[in-house]
Amino acid sequence: MKTLGGSEANAVPGGVAFSGDWATAYRVNYWSRIASRVLWRIVEFEYKNEHGIYDAVKAIDWARYFTVERTLRVNVTAQKSPLKSLEFATLRIKDAVCDRFRDQLGRRPDVDRSNPDVRVHAFFEGTHATLYLDTSGDPLFKRGWRQGAADAPLRENLAAGIVMLTGWKPGEPLLDPMCGGATLLVEAAAMARGRAPGARRSFAFEKLLAFDAKGWEGVTAEERKTEKQPELRLFGSDTDPKALNAARRNLAEAGVERWVSLERSDILERSAPAPAGVMVANPPYGERMGSASELARFYPKLGDSLKKHFSGWRCYFFTADLRLPKLIRLEPAARTPLWNGALECRLYEFPIVSGSHRR
Ligand SMILES: C[S@@+](CC[C@H](N)C(=O)[O-])C[C@H]1O[C@@H](n2cnc3c(N)ncnc32)[C@H](O)[C@@H]1O
Repeated sequence: MKTLGGSEANAVPGGVAFSGDWATAYRVNYWSRIASRVLWRIVEFEYKNEHGIYDAVKAIDWARYFTVERTLRVNVTAQKSPLKSLEFATLRIKDAVCDRFRDQLGRRPDVDRSNPDVRVHAFFEGTHATLYLDTSGDPLFKRGWRQGAADAPLRENLAAGIVMLTGWKPGEPLLDPMCGGATLLVEAAAMARGRAPGARRSFAFEKLLAFDAKGWEGVTAEERKTEKQPELRLFGSDTDPKALNAARRNLAEAGVERWVSLERSDILERSAPAPAGVMVANPPYGERMGSASELARFYPKLGDSLKKHFSGWRCYFFTADLRLPKLIRLEPAARTPLWNGALECRLYEFPIVSGSHRR
């Protein structure tokens, strides 16, 4: 957030709070590889019940923010709130916004739950409420390049965050030997090439009255100045031809296929494509693919093949299966907790040095 120009950036539960002007909001939407959405804080208030919420929301001059022609959706999240029904609270917020428009203009905005122009997010923590307008629209992990359907793909922003956490530098070889639809490789290549993750999509801020087309143009023009031209050596492999097909389509759609070599091979058998580099993989884990007992037989073989073929490499595995380090029989140098939606995961780092690190 700091590199994108946000000031007073602070980690808060579920996100990062920051201050900035509209150009900053555009830039964060356009450039952040790891954010899910950028929300604009409109109001905070204390409430006792649904009536209090209705009154506080109706007191806001919504016509200042968007026109009555825009379609609307309200999302509510609550923690330790006295509200009995979040659905009812959602309805009351929607009514308050619409009633305010009707009182002022004689018309109400329509609700569109699947593809709204404007999203209002309400967060209730105890009796404290915060309302935001969503400046992103579709979540930011939707970049517009995903074509091929492979099993259990990572979200693009999570994949980008994982690549960042490995500390990979574009000059180093990067291998995903269980690449599936190649999310990690697409994100790594886009990052190394300085491609804006938001270059091929639209944003909800374009539909708000505060939208400044010139300012937005200025932010998208900044892309050219930061374009980098490193020599990239990226490698992907998978045993599943369907996954490789999806990977090929995704890499092509993202325009990064020329930097990535794909091959069909088993991680247990493949050799290293360079004497040293970074391996990053997201093996199947019980929840979505691969049974627990299959994986328990797989990990020791994986550990053996890393030692045999990948000495000199830093290997990272992202998984929800917390048995991995024990069963792989290697000592992790780091284990970073990460959440994949509601699923608690780890990113394990195994530096492979010949002979050492045996448990
Ligand atoms: C969870 S998916 C990876 C998803 C990928 N990170 C993405 O975002 O699209 C796991 C992948 O591992 C592959 N796989 C399973 N066992 C393998 C093995 N022994 N060698 C190579 N790939 C394997 C599967 O075919 C599957 O595509």
